[in-house]
Amino acid sequence: MCLDLDFWIKIEWTIRNSWNRDPTLFALVFNLVLMHRWWSKETIAVVTGGNRGIGFEICRQLADHGVTVILTSRDASVGVESIKVLQEGGLQDVACHPLDILDTSSVTQFSDWLKENYGGLDILVSF
Ligand SMILES: NC(=O)c1ccc[n+]([C@@H]2O[C@H](COP(=O)([O-])OP(=O)(O)OC[C@H]3O[C@@H](n4cnc5c(N)ncnc54)[C@H](OP(=O)(O)O)[C@@H]3O)[C@@H](O)[C@H]2O)c1
Repeated sequence: MCLDLDFWIKIEWTIRNSWNRDPTLFALVFNLVLMHRWWSKETIAVVTGGNRGIGFEICRQLADHGVTVILTSRDASVGVESIKVLQEGGLQDVACHPLDILDTSSVTQFSDWLKENYGGLDILVSF
């Protein structure tokens, strides 16, 4: 599988140029892109500070792309409210857990919970 940036730039250029000129070529290129989709519902993404700002938007976008998202927040109740917003928007593969990245015991608790419930993670988004 080819995943380098040049490859994706060429694919994007081809999509842009084939859209108006040739629908068959467009469909072919589009399917080629889908074949290179490496993530799925089994892909686990953890986002720290996912309850607001950029973190929340990243959670929304990852879930929208079909990744399972673990939204973490310092305040547990805020995390629950945040995933409710995502779920009400139709995104079901989202969960939340408290995490303060500056608190060692919080990090350990989160890590244990993650291993037990998801077996680990594939993507980490942390500012
Ligand atoms: N917004 C921009 O235009 C911009 C541009 C470039 C770079 N950035 C950087 O991108 C990052 C996020 O920006 P933002 O605008 O989304 O900020 P934000 O709205 O202030 O959100 C920050 C998030 O980080 C969480 N957080 C803070 N300390 C934490 C800790 N110890 N453990 C876990 N979570 C913690 C906050 O949780 P609480 O809700 O509990 O406080 C909140 O969820 C920042 O580092 C910012 O400097 C932002």
